[in-house]
This record gives sequence, structure tokens and C-alpha cells, in this order.
Amino acid sequence: MPTSLMPTVKQTLTTPLIVSIGLMFCISLAGCGEKEKKHEAQQPSTIPTTASTNTPTKSSDQDDVYAMQSKIQPDFKKMQALGKQIFFDPALSASGKMSCASCHSPQSAFGPPNGRSVQLGGADMTEMGTRAVPSLRYQQNVPAFSEHHFDEDFDESVDQGAVGGHDWDGRAATTHAQSAMPLLSKYEMANRSQAEVVRKLRLAPYAAQFKDTFGKDALDDDDKAFKWTTLALEMYQQDPKEFYPYDSKYDEFLRGKVKLTKQEQHGLEVFNDPTKGNCASCHISRISNTGVFPAFSDFGLIAIGVPRNQELTVNHDPNFYDMGACGPDRTDLKEKTQYCGAFRTPSLRNVALRKTFFHNGKFHSLEQVIQFYSTRETNPEKWYTKNKDGSINQYDDLPKQYHGNINVDAPFNRKKGDKPVLNATEIRDMIAFLNTLTDGYVVKK
Ligand code: HEC
Ligand code: HEC
Repeated sequence: MPTSLMPTVKQTLTTPLIVSIGLMFCISLAGCGEKEKKHEAQQPSTIPTTASTNTPTKSSDQDDVYAMQSKIQPDFKKMQALGKQIFFDPALSASGKMSCASCHSPQSAFGPPNGRSVQLGGADMTEMGTRAVPSLRYQQNVPAFSEHHFDEDFDESVDQGAVGGHDWDGRAATTHAQSAMPLLSKYEMANRSQAEVVRKLRLAPYAAQFKDTFGKDALDDDDKAFKWTTLALEMYQQDPKEFYPYDSKYDEFLRGKVKLTKQEQHGLEVFNDPTKGNCASCHISRISNTGVFPAFSDFGLIAIGVPRNQELTVNHDPNFYDMGACGPDRTDLKEKTQYCGAFRTPSLRNVALRKTFFHNGKFHSLEQVIQFYSTRETNPEKWYTKNKDGSINQYDDLPKQYHGNINVDAPFNRKKGDKPVLNATEIRDMIAFLNTLTDGYVVKK
């Protein structure tokens, strides 16, 4: 059973509609293969279970969106086309300069367009965000957030712990719930209210298209119009051609159409090897038992002790810590301190297009990231700041009392002074392998 059908009450209510959308779409796609059908059947992915925090979207509001949808049954393709217009429209921001695409650039697999740790936004485009921009590709199978996840695509007897949800901390239940946040966040598109967004939509060149999609009165009521907007954005993000094409060299390799080079193949082995990178234990690299191509993430929430990034404005306050799932952005788990420091494992598809890595954008090259994995425990002095007495302030972006949350499985199962687990050749080859995860590979005949 696909992850989108995980048994929560709300999901069961809405899945028939959703699955049928997915299937319809596959039928209309020329040349949907067996494997691709599996992906199609799994979209759209998640249904609201938790309330998001930054904005006034309550979970009851989110349920409404689906209720509104099933009453009117708007055409999927029309919603996608409209969602695309909205996604690229800078007029929908307070600055008039920022659209979704300004941060989620289509040239960078809908990830950040530049090497900044975090992007600038807000009414005058000078507000610094607090987190790195994630890629919006391959989000369609992210399960709804759950503290006890059983993955039916791999081994359903194993409780994987906290998994899923959107954003680095898993706090947004759906991509439409998520879309409300940037439109209103003072760091991003900075509209003061939903009504302000809708006022702009009424003047948009695609206002007629909006009404054609959701009905003549679709822009009359601020509240409803805003919900349609987030739904259209969500549907756009379920366009397989743009958001999950599965056309990297690695996909062609899985389909048996190309061979990896020796170097790429070696990199893959190091990536998978439990005594070497052990990367695939979290960034899954194989086709699932049910035939789903890997997202290079199990979507688990894990603390890996990424060093503090002093470049971020929020971090100028020494008492501020972004602790991911336990807050402060996410509020529903703040009592559950076992989640302090945990962030959702990102997909590594298209990771070679990024110039900024981890939730706080601390690193700027894949080499640095892999060096960190290899030497976090053996050479902590390379990564962390020092205390006043000269000792190393290991895990300097998490208060001491939560250091026990930090993952110490391989490749982190070394001790200070041990030999790093990866040598220079292994790191170089792993980077070559990660480059095979970039979409848009063309098989040479
Ligand atoms: C100023 C930059 C910026 C803009 C503009 C922006 N985003 Fe984002 N987006 C981010 C950041 C940063 C995150 C991660 C937030 C977090 O983890 O708290 C994010 C997260 C997301 C996610 C969740 C991805 C995941 O990994 O779960 C989605 C979906 C998303 N954005 C869609 C949109 C849409 C749709 C728009 C336009 C309405 C938009 N974004 C505008 C910066 C931006
Ligand atoms: C225990 C689970 C786990 C293992 C093992 C693991 N990762 Fe990760 N990976 C994560 C998590 C969680 C994050 C996000 C951490 C954060 O931002 O705080 C991450 C982030 C990354 C990123 C940044 C991606 C981005 O979009 O910013 C890269 C690259 C990466 N991992 C590569 C690797 C490689 C290579 C290995 C093997 C050497 C590996 N990971 C092993 C869980 C894991």
C-alpha cells in the first residue's frame, strides 16, 4: 500500500478523490511505465493532520480546502495551469519583486537560485530568512507527519520513529498548508493578510483563468479565494514533468538503460556500504519492495548536529536555537524534547545543483558536507566553535541537555582521534555518484 494511504482518519476520507486524480493523470501521460504508474498512484501525498505554526492556518481550515474541492470538482489540469501562473507571479508579494520561483528556482530543481545560506525577502527584500530553501522536487511521496512511521514500501514491521511532514521540521501537513506560509511570512512574500493576497489576485492578468477554474464567484470571498490559491499551488507541484520526472542518469541506470562509470559505481558502493558512508540508511537509494523509485530520503526526522551558522541574523542572539521539530518554529512537539535538534532528512535528488546545504545553509559544497559526515566525531575541532576555556563546543547549535539526541550510528560511530571513515578517493567518487542524481539526463544512443 502506498504511503499516501497511511491510515489516519482524515486521509481515509479524502484518498479516493486523490488517488483517482493521480490515476487519471497517468492515463493521460504517454508512455507511463509500470514503475512510473506506482509513482502516479501515490500522488498527491499528504492530508492535514497537524496545524502549522507560522501562520493562522488551522487544521480545520485545511480540511475545508478538500471539502470545497470535492463539492466543485475543479479540473486537475486547469488547477495546475493556474497554480503555475501563481507560482511565478511576483506581483503577489509585498515587494512586488518576489514570487515562489525567486527562492524555488526551476533552473535549480526548484531549490535556491544562488549560494546564500538563506534567501532575502520581506517588504523591502532585506529580511533574512531563517532556513535554507529546500528543493520542491520529489515531495509527492512525503508521508504525513507521524511519530511512529511504518513504511509499507520497505519493511512494515519496523517502527521508524518520527517521519514526514513538509518543511525542515515536518510542521506543514500539506503543500497547500505550506504555501500559505511564504505568502504571509514577513521574511518572504510578506503580505499582511490573506485579503491582501486576494486583492492582488483580482487584478492579476490570470483572474479570468482563476474564475474559469474554480467558478465565477471564486474571487469574491477572501477566505475561499485564498484557499483556492493554495490548492492551485499544491496541484501545480504535482505536475510530474516539472516536479518528479525521474529522468536522472541514476534512474536510467535503475531502468537498465545506462551503465554508471567505474567512479560513479564505486561512489554508489561507498554511499550504500554500512561500514563506510552508510548514507543509504537514511537517504534510500534502492527501488522499494513495491516498485517505487528511491527519493533518496526516508523522510525521517533526525538530529545530526549540523554546526551553528553565525551568518544567520537569528543566530546573532546567543540564546536562540533553531531546534527543528521541538521548536521554536514548530510548536506542537515542544514538550517532546527527544525531538530537539531533529530535521527532516532531505532528498538528495538534484543535490549537485545546490550551493548551500543543511537546514541552516551552513555548508556550501558537497565535499564539505561529506567531510563533515566523515570527521564529525574524529575531528570535531574542524567543525565546531570553542568554549571560553579553549575546549571544543561540540554540537554548538543545540543546548547541552539535548546532545543525547544526536545520531551516533555509522558513519558517526567513531571516536576523537580515530581515522576518518572516508578517504579522499571515496569522497571524490561519492560526489561523482551524487552527480548522477541530477534530472534531465539524456541517454546517448
Ligand atoms: C524567501 C524565499 C521563499 C519564497 C519566496 C518561498 N519559499 Fe517555499 N520555502 C522556503 C524555505 C526557507 C523553506 C523551508 C522552510 C522551513 O523549513 O521552515 C520553504 C519550504 C517550502 C515547501 C516545503 C518543502 C519541504 O521540503 O517540505 C514548499 C512546498 C514550499 N516552500 C512552497 C513554496 C510556494 C508554493 C511558494 C510561493 C507561494 C514559496 N514556497 C515561496 C523559502 C521560500
Ligand atoms: C542518520 C541519518 C542520515 C545518514 C546516515 C546520512 N544522512 Fe545526510 N542528512 C540527514 C539529515 C537529517 C539531513 C538534514 C540535517 C540538517 O539539515 O540538520 C541530511 C542532509 C544531507 C545533505 C544536505 C542536503 C540539502 O538539501 O541540504 C547531504 C548532501 C547529505 N545529507 C548527504 C549524505 C551523505 C553523503 C551521507 C553518507 C556519508 C549521509 N548524508 C548520511 C540524515 C542522514
